[in-house]
Amino acid sequence: MKCIFKIFIFLSIIKGYGQESEKFVSDLMSKMTLEEKVGQLNQYSGEWAHTGPVTKDGDKQTQIKKGLVGSMLNVTTVKHTTELQKMAMQSRLKIPLLFGQDVIHGFRINYPIPLAEVASWDIPLIEKSARFAAVEASAYGVHWTFAPMVDISRDPRWGRVMEGAGEDTFLGVQVAKGRVKGFQGNGIGNTDAVMACAKHFAAYGAAVGGRDYNSVDMSLRQLYETYLPPFKAAVDAGVGTLMNSFNDLNGVPATGNKFLQREILKKQWNFKGFVVSDWGSIGEMIQHGFVKNNYEAAKVAIEAGSDMDMESRSYKNHLAQLVNEGKVDIKLVDDAVRRILIKKYELGLFADPFKFSNQKREDAQSNNPEHRKHARDIGARSIVLLKNEKQLLPLSKKTKNIALIGPFGKVVGENLGFWATTWPDDNSTIVSQFAGIKAQMDANSNLIYAKGCNVNDQDRSQFNEAIEAAKKADVVIMTMGEAHDMSGEAKSRSSLQFPGVQEELLKEIQKTGKPIVLLINAGRPLIFNWAADNIEAIAYTWWLGSEAGNAIADVVFGNYNPAGKLPMSFPRSEGQIPIYYNYYNTGRPAADENETSYVSAYNDLKNSPKYFFGYGLSYTKFDISNLKLSNSKLKTENDVLKISVTVENKGNFDGEEVVQLYIRDLVGSVVRPVRELKGFQKIFLKKGEKREVQFEITPENLKFYNDNLEYIFEEGDFEVFVGNSSNADLKASFELVK
Ligand code: BGC
Repeated sequence: MKCIFKIFIFLSIIKGYGQESEKFVSDLMSKMTLEEKVGQLNQYSGEWAHTGPVTKDGDKQTQIKKGLVGSMLNVTTVKHTTELQKMAMQSRLKIPLLFGQDVIHGFRINYPIPLAEVASWDIPLIEKSARFAAVEASAYGVHWTFAPMVDISRDPRWGRVMEGAGEDTFLGVQVAKGRVKGFQGNGIGNTDAVMACAKHFAAYGAAVGGRDYNSVDMSLRQLYETYLPPFKAAVDAGVGTLMNSFNDLNGVPATGNKFLQREILKKQWNFKGFVVSDWGSIGEMIQHGFVKNNYEAAKVAIEAGSDMDMESRSYKNHLAQLVNEGKVDIKLVDDAVRRILIKKYELGLFADPFKFSNQKREDAQSNNPEHRKHARDIGARSIVLLKNEKQLLPLSKKTKNIALIGPFGKVVGENLGFWATTWPDDNSTIVSQFAGIKAQMDANSNLIYAKGCNVNDQDRSQFNEAIEAAKKADVVIMTMGEAHDMSGEAKSRSSLQFPGVQEELLKEIQKTGKPIVLLINAGRPLIFNWAADNIEAIAYTWWLGSEAGNAIADVVFGNYNPAGKLPMSFPRSEGQIPIYYNYYNTGRPAADENETSYVSAYNDLKNSPKYFFGYGLSYTKFDISNLKLSNSKLKTENDVLKISVTVENKGNFDGEEVVQLYIRDLVGSVVRPVRELKGFQKIFLKKGEKREVQFEITPENLKFYNDNLEYIFEEGDFEVFVGNSSNADLKASFELVK
C-alpha cells in the first residue's frame, strides 16, 4: 500500500512537472517569431573541432546573439560553453543553447571503444562507463551526448562497428538500455547527467557491402526483428533524443523517412523527445537524388519528423519561407520546437543556463581516480583470449627477459581508438602498453622494446632490431593491429588483414623459435589466419582507452583472468562477409564445416567463422553440463520454462564465465535463425567451485515478426543450447503448446 502511494506521488510529480514544462514552453512559444522558432531547429558545430564537412557561412556568434541558433556541437569546457551561452543570453528571448558532443567512450578519461566493452558482456560495468563519461562530460559543460550508437552490424568491413554493440540484437538491446541509463543517470536535469541520443535511426549498420553512408535495402521484417529493437529499448529506457542516419532505407533517405520517424518512432513508440539529423544529412538528400535543392530538403525533412538540422542549414535558410508560402504547416515547426524546448526545460537550462558550466566541478573531474580505476577494470574485462596453447599465458612477473615488439608498444594515443575526445592533445593521461607491462614486472626482470615496423607502410628497416630483441628474450609479446583511425566513421575497408608489413614481421619473429603472445589492437574483427594457426597465445585487446597498458598487463600477468567473449563473428576471409551466427538454415545447409558440394557454402572456405560469436577463453577451464529443463512442454498462457546447467571451474584459476543460452524455433510460418541468443549470465567461480545456473524462458521470449509484421509466437518444437559460445553443443528440446 505504502509502495503504491509512493508510486502515485511520484507519478503526480512527473505529471505536474510535465504540465509545468508544457505551460512554460507554450508561453515562450507564443512570444517567438517564426525566425526564432526556426533558430531553435538549427545546430552548428563550434570552431574548436569538426566531425564532418564544415560549412562556412556568416557569423555564428551574431546569429547566436539574435536567437537564431538552438544548439551547438563540438563546444566543450566551462570556458567555451560559458562564452557562447553568454551570447545566447543577449538574444531577445534568452533561450539557452544546448551543447551536444560525441561522448562515445569516455570524455577526458577514455574507456574501451564501445564494441570492446560489449565483449565484457557485463551490462552493469558498461552502464558504469556511460555513467562516468556523463559525470565528466557534464562537468565540462556538455548537456547532450550523441551516444549510444545502437546500430546492429554484421559486416566488419564497416568501420563503425567499433561504436556499437556488435551483431546480436538481444545483446544490443541490453547494452542500449544500460548505456542510456548510464548517460542519463537519475534523469536529465541532474548536473551529473547528460541527455543521451540513440543513433543512427535506422538500419545504418546494414549499409550494402559495409561501405559507409551506403544504401540499405531490407525487408520490413528484418528491420523490425533485427535492427529496430535496440532503438525501441533506448526509447523505453527514456532516451531524450534520437539521431537519424545517412543511409537510404529501401530508397528513402532516413532523414526524409516519414515511416521511420513519424509512423514508427513518434506514433507507434510514442517518443516524446526530438530527432536530430546526422551531420548535413538533410542537405545530403540532394546527393541521394531524393530532392532537388535545400529548399525541398527542408520541406521533406520537417515533414518526415527530423526536428533539428545538424549543420546543413536547410532549415535556417528555407523553413520560414516554406511556412510563409504555405508549403509547410507551421504545426510541424511548432511540434519540433516544442520537443526541443521541453528538453532544454527538463535539463534545467531555463532556470540556469550556466548550470553545467561550473569551474569547480570541471576541476574536480579532471583525472578522477575512480574513473581511472574503472577504465582499467573494464579494459581488462574487454579483452578476449582467443588462443592459449600450452598455457603460455599468464606470464610470470619474474620472467627474466620479455621483449615487447610492434608498433603499439610505446605509443599512447593509439590506445584510445576512434571517437576519443582527448585525442591527440592530452597524451599524458594514457598508459602505454610498455609502461603498463613494465610496471608489473619484477625489479630484476627486463622489458626489451623494439618497434619493428610502422602500422601501415612497407618499411622493413626496423626488422633486424626486432629480431635481435626477440633473440634476447624468454618470451615475446607482439603488439599489432590497426591504427586508431582505421576503424570508425568513413573507415570502411575491403581488406581486414594486418596492415603494412606487420604480419611479415610476426613471421620473422616466429622464426626465432621464441614463444609469442600476440596482442591485437583493433576497432573491428580483423582477419589473421596465419597468426591464428601459428602463434601460441592470442589476446584481442581492441582499443582499450586511457588505461590500456595497465589493463593489458593485468591480463598478461594474470591479475585478472580474462573472460571476454566476442560480440561479432570473426571471418576467415573477407569473402565470407556478412557473417553472423543467427543465419537461416537454407534448403541446402552444409552438414559440417567442410561440406561444400551442392550445399550453401563457399567452395574454397570452411563453413564456420574463424571464431564464433560469443567465443572467448579463460586461464581456467569451465565445464558446463547437466542441461535440465523443468518441463518438456511450455504452455502459451502464463507459463515459464526453467532451464538449468551445472558450471564447474575445473582449472587452476579463479575466474568468470559467460554462460549463454540460445534457442532454435524448428518450424515457423517464416523461417527462423539456426540459433538466437535468449539469455546470458556472467558468473564467478573459484577454482574447484561448481554452481547451478538457471535461465527462464516464457512464450514472450519466443515471439517473432511473421509475414504480416505481427509480433507473435507459434506453437511447435524448439531446441535449447547452453554453453560458452554460439557454437555450444549442449542441447535439449521442448514444445510450445496451447
Ligand atoms: C556522425 C554522427 C556524429 C555526428 C556529430 C556524424 O558524422 O555520423 O555519429 O554524432 O557526426 O559529430
